[in-house]
Order: sequence, then C-alpha cells, then structure tokens
Amino acid sequence: MKFFLDTANLKELTEAKSIGILDGVTTNPTLISKENVFSKNDIYNHYQSICNIIGDTCDLSAEIISKNYNDIIQEGKILSSLHKNIVLKIPMTQDGLKAINFFSERNIRTNCTLVFSSAQAILAAKSGAYYVSPFIGRLDDISYNGIHLIEEMNYIYNNYQFNTRILAASIRNPIHIIECSKLGIYAITSPLNVIYSLFNHPLTNIGITKFIQDYKNKIK
Ligand code: G3P
Repeated sequence: MKFFLDTANLKELTEAKSIGILDGVTTNPTLISKENVFSKNDIYNHYQSICNIIGDTCDLSAEIISKNYNDIIQEGKILSSLHKNIVLKIPMTQDGLKAINFFSERNIRTNCTLVFSSAQAILAAKSGAYYVSPFIGRLDDISYNGIHLIEEMNYIYNNYQFNTRILAASIRNPIHIIECSKLGIYAITSPLNVIYSLFNHPLTNIGITKFIQDYKNKIK
C-alpha cells in the first residue's frame, strides 16, 4: 500500500522522506493556507518546493480552487505545467467531472476529491479519474462507517476492473490504515502524526528499556 502524506508542510515532508515511507503527497486549500503563502505565485512556488523535496518517484495532488468548468480547465493547465508529478485534485461536482474527463483524455492525471458515496465513486471512475479520494474520517464524524464505504467502493471497482485508484483520505487513526491495507487499497493519505502512531507499541518500549538496563548492569 502506498503512503501519501496529507500535508503541505515542508518540514514534515522532509522528515517523512528521510524515513523512506513517502510515496506521494496530497494537499488541499486548508492545508495550503496553514503555510507561509499569501498569493497564487507563493502557492505555485510552494508546490515547486514540495516537488523538489519529494523527488521524482512521488506525486503531489494540488487542489483546484475554481468551481466552473472553464476556470477549472484554466487553473488545471497552470498547475499541471508546474511539474510533471502534479496531479490535479478536483472536487466531485458536475463541472469537476467534466474537467476530469477533459484532463484524462489528455493524459493529465486527476484526483477526484470530496467523495462520500459509492455512487460518486462510480462517476469518478467513469470520468477517468486517476485517483479517487473517499474521506473516511469525515464520514465517521457523522456516524457513517468510512471503512464500509472503502470496502464497497473496492468491491465495485473490482467488479468492473476500473483503473481509478482508491486513495483513502481523511485518515484519523492507525486502525483506518490497517483496515485499508487488509482490503488491499492502493494508497492512503495521512497526517504525519497518524503515521507516527504506527511505530508505537508498549512492548517495544519496555523491551528496549530492559535490554539497555541488563547491558548496563553487567558491562562496565
Ligand atoms: O486532503 C483531504 C483529506 O485527507 C482531509 O482530511 O482530516 O481534514 O478530514 P480531514
């Protein structure tokens, strides 16, 4: 399963890259607005910096702000010209799907975002989205089981051998990641703190302390 980091923070990306776990990055307008950017040009430069950190093997989903079709196309062309690894993240709307179809016909990769149902996931695949981003945590927040959605989408996509890759988003805890991996989901995108929580096990910490203690008790 591929690990994407859901952040626009350069320090976090550098850290994840150094651990060797980074396969890609997803951003959204909220995440971008937390960084040191104040204009569109700042944002474009920031995307360039992200691409430089993550390297050629990772891609970056950069989200479109525009809402109507012509504006989405215009913005998408600018974003996709910044770097070959930029994937256009386009919200699940009628204009968005039309734009996804436009870009897919031109071999420009897209990530259909803000997906909350299997019905939306079917449309994203039919339009030619390269990734589809179902938001697990936000469904859990309103008492729907986000993992059940992933399971159903995966079942439907397998039925028809859709090429669209499931990129499970809005990951909030390690269980989300483990459940996605059990289902064989292509990728998850997670904040760094949730990735870090995968490291932790109390028996590992207890084991390290005991090994060092035993060593120091004998070896002078
Ligand atoms: O980037 C999209 C998604 O991962 C957002 O997550 O935690 O804001 O629901 P969250």
